[in-house]
Amino acid sequence: MTQNTSAEPVVAIVVAAGSGVRLGGEVPKAVRVLAGRPLVSWSVEALAAGGVTEVVVVVGDGLQDMFTDALADSPIPWRLVVGGATRQESVARGIAALPDGDVVLVHDAARPLVPVDVVRGVIEAVRAGASAVIPVVGVSDTIRQVAGAGSVVVDRSGLRAVQTPQGFARDALVTAHAAANGRDFTDDAAVCEACGYEVVLVPGSREALKITEPHDLAVAEAIVKDRR
Ligand code: C5P
Repeated sequence: MTQNTSAEPVVAIVVAAGSGVRLGGEVPKAVRVLAGRPLVSWSVEALAAGGVTEVVVVVGDGLQDMFTDALADSPIPWRLVVGGATRQESVARGIAALPDGDVVLVHDAARPLVPVDVVRGVIEAVRAGASAVIPVVGVSDTIRQVAGAGSVVVDRSGLRAVQTPQGFARDALVTAHAAANGRDFTDDAAVCEACGYEVVLVPGSREALKITEPHDLAVAEAIVKDRR
């Protein structure tokens, strides 16, 4: 099922070291079950389908056995590393463990159903020369900015919600993370931007929703059912 149109490896970091307190449950979010399989196994399979050839999965300390079981059916080689206190720190630890490959994707395990076209679009944009690539979708809700006791409507036509996988030229990601030096950013594209790299936008998908609350898991179950 793996499709990689170039001989060059495309490697990915899947961050899965968050606790997922908003989702609840007895096990970490990334090993919660969606349609019979752990979220992290859906995420790795989605990346592999889009052309990723090897993956580093960043997990909570002491959970290696749990993730080894969760990844037993992975279509591509994987290795585990222990994450840090923040997402950014977890990505940095993933970078330190990356196998060879000039195109690097960083993906949230919490986005298990990212469509193959989104993964391919991100990879293609990096191959075409972009340093940092993000998949985005428009904002459908009316958005208000709270200001003191009041609030004002924001023009949503220029707003985009940012998803993963984000794609990077390896040098850019490595250089930018090293330069961040303790400053905290919300995603890796912002880390790169702060280092002077341009961020390129490509189409994302509503199906790449991030599993955050129990309701999201129900939506994801419905998407899987629909795909089948
Ligand atoms: O908490 P949030 O859903 O924004 O986390 C996004 C992703 O980052 C999740 O896949 C989570 O497992 C990961 N993460 C991590 N290490 C942390 C915090 C979050 O790998 N310290």
